[in-house]
Amino acid sequence: MSEEKENYKARRQALAESLPPGTLAIIPAAREKIRNGDAHYRFRQSSDFYYLTGFTEPDAVLCVSASKCCESILFLRPKNPEAECWTGPRLGVEEALTVLAVDEALPIDTLKARLPELMLDKKSIYYPMGQDMGYEAMFREAWQQATQIARRSHQAPEVFADITPFLSELRLFKDTYEIDCLKDAARLSVTAHEQVMRHAKSAQNEYELEAEFLYALAKQGCREVAYEPIVAGGARACTLHYTENNKPLAPNDLLLVDAGGELCHYAADITRTYPVSGRFTPEQRDLYQLVLQAQTAGIQAVKPGKPWGGIQVAILDVLEPGLKSLGILKNNIDIKTFYMHLSGHWLGLDVHDVGAYTKENASRLLEPNMVLTVEPGVYIPKDCDLVDERWCGIGIRIEDDILVTASGHENLTV
Ligand code: GLY
Ligand code: MN
Ligand code: MN
Repeated sequence: MSEEKENYKARRQALAESLPPGTLAIIPAAREKIRNGDAHYRFRQSSDFYYLTGFTEPDAVLCVSASKCCESILFLRPKNPEAECWTGPRLGVEEALTVLAVDEALPIDTLKARLPELMLDKKSIYYPMGQDMGYEAMFREAWQQATQIARRSHQAPEVFADITPFLSELRLFKDTYEIDCLKDAARLSVTAHEQVMRHAKSAQNEYELEAEFLYALAKQGCREVAYEPIVAGGARACTLHYTENNKPLAPNDLLLVDAGGELCHYAADITRTYPVSGRFTPEQRDLYQLVLQAQTAGIQAVKPGKPWGGIQVAILDVLEPGLKSLGILKNNIDIKTFYMHLSGHWLGLDVHDVGAYTKENASRLLEPNMVLTVEPGVYIPKDCDLVDERWCGIGIRIEDDILVTASGHENLTV
């Protein structure tokens, strides 16, 4: 799948229009991180930077000037045959102009010298605060220099602020290309989950099923996961972010698999819970049916104009009486004892995607083209003395990825 470079240009334009006039926005790419010695962690581009450029190399910085019209300058690594012999081709400065449709492209090692003049006569500088202290120090030094130059003949920016809320608001609403990516990531991840399910009965250990998931994704051309998979047998499912995935599986265990691929930088986030043996015990079945009912109610609450917080209300309206009638919730025990998380989160370039959940101190109203997860669960730890022993050690979550549409919603992970 390839995205038109014009889409990225349109996003830069939208960012420029959303920022105060006279702003210089500075958005760095991610940097390579050393694992040890000469080995690096697998590189993942900054989601904000990718959203605005579609460019996947490290050591780059995008400057967007929101003065008269939107003007984009990209600083990036120049071509370097010696380095490219080791790590592969770079786009290079000349190609960037046409491939990425930026107005100007310059070598990254000129950034420091160019920044003060780019800041001159701007009213404000917006960048992702607190994310990369190296760049942050460079931007502040450049601003000091700009201030000194400005004393003589120019204005220097008076505002230094965080760009994150502006970018997050744009990223919250997915365009057609993004929705296609999310649908593809969802579809491939559903297939990988089905593959895991087929192997559950014969697997000895959680890691075998983790490997099945990764293999099934890779076979479909998806080589990234959106987050570390959770493959939890039995009571380990009660650890919400269990990622050890290295314990033996027992036939009576429920298996919780929370795993999603990342395709073209877009995430899927799916949880399925089912019995290793293929047959629920009566307690497992009762609780599973309840969580499924709660999830169905949560998904039904996804409609434009309805509050995001209404999803959790719909879930609790099912879970609370259900747990009471099973005799699990009694003696004024708070439901948070057994369901301690929110209904889900926004989904996009990040698995826990950006975007505010409240607006004017109230839960945000859902709008078309938002994408979110709905993922209720019930978790009763192994040694829980608040309930009858037969319920202990059961952890269940069911999670799907939901697109808000003009008339309601679409489940991307059925
Ligand atoms: N996989 C992490 C989550 O469901 O939020
Ligand atoms: Mn999730
Ligand atoms: Mn999940």
